[in-house]
Amino acid sequence: MRVVQLTDSHLGADDTAELLGMNTDNSLDLVLDMLQQRSDQFDVILVTGDIALHGAREAYERFQNKLARFEQATLWLAGNHDDSAFMRDVVGFGNEMARSALVAGWQLIMLDSVQPNEVGGSLSQSELNFLRHCLQQQPDLPALVALHHHPMAVGCEWLDEQQISNSEEFLDLVRSHANVKVVCWGHVHQIFDTTSAGVRFMSSPSTCVQFAQNSADFKLDPAAPGVRWMELHADGHVDTEIWRLSGVNLNVDLESTGYAQD
Ligand SMILES: [Fe+2]
Repeated sequence: MRVVQLTDSHLGADDTAELLGMNTDNSLDLVLDMLQQRSDQFDVILVTGDIALHGAREAYERFQNKLARFEQATLWLAGNHDDSAFMRDVVGFGNEMARSALVAGWQLIMLDSVQPNEVGGSLSQSELNFLRHCLQQQPDLPALVALHHHPMAVGCEWLDEQQISNSEEFLDLVRSHANVKVVCWGHVHQIFDTTSAGVRFMSSPSTCVQFAQNSADFKLDPAAPGVRWMELHADGHVDTEIWRLSGVNLNVDLESTGYAQD
């Protein structure tokens, strides 16, 4: 099964909204054009949060309309900039907000790491119990766990203050279930990829602005918007690539020193 992880599109209430100088509808549209040209190369679109910039209902409606061109299943989870009630309202009884899915011999598990009115992440006991339950229900299937916030430091001090506050508890749970093969997240707007105790831990570029790797303070990176592509093999092995836009000139305020966190 091949998955495209699409994350942090930060769409505003209307299509003129910008994040740090970049029009986020425009950058998402270009990323989706790239995906359409490769639409025979993936089976699922996994959206790992911050679909919206300020949680506007219209952002989810436009996002859903933009994704309607794809036949592939799409799964959405919320980030700290999202309003999950609006998200759920927009998708109605669709499968987009499913908490778990069995696809082609893998279990996909979507966790909610958002804390009300907080930028940083945490996993409630009910989320951890849900994860444990899913893993115990399907002990023979490899599992991918997706969430918005990072469960380990990515090397940027300012972002690492926002990682899952009880990440050790989460990682202990992951490591005690041999069926977990992948943990992936958004939020950090940069790529990260490491293997620990047989589990692949990865983040994806944003479909809009990118944060510089290994920067103690807030800093933007000129890298182009993109997605993470993964091929999940039946034996639990994973191949992955980063697909970025090329040949486009998107405006971004690289000198920006802050990020409106509302
Ligand atoms: Fe984000």
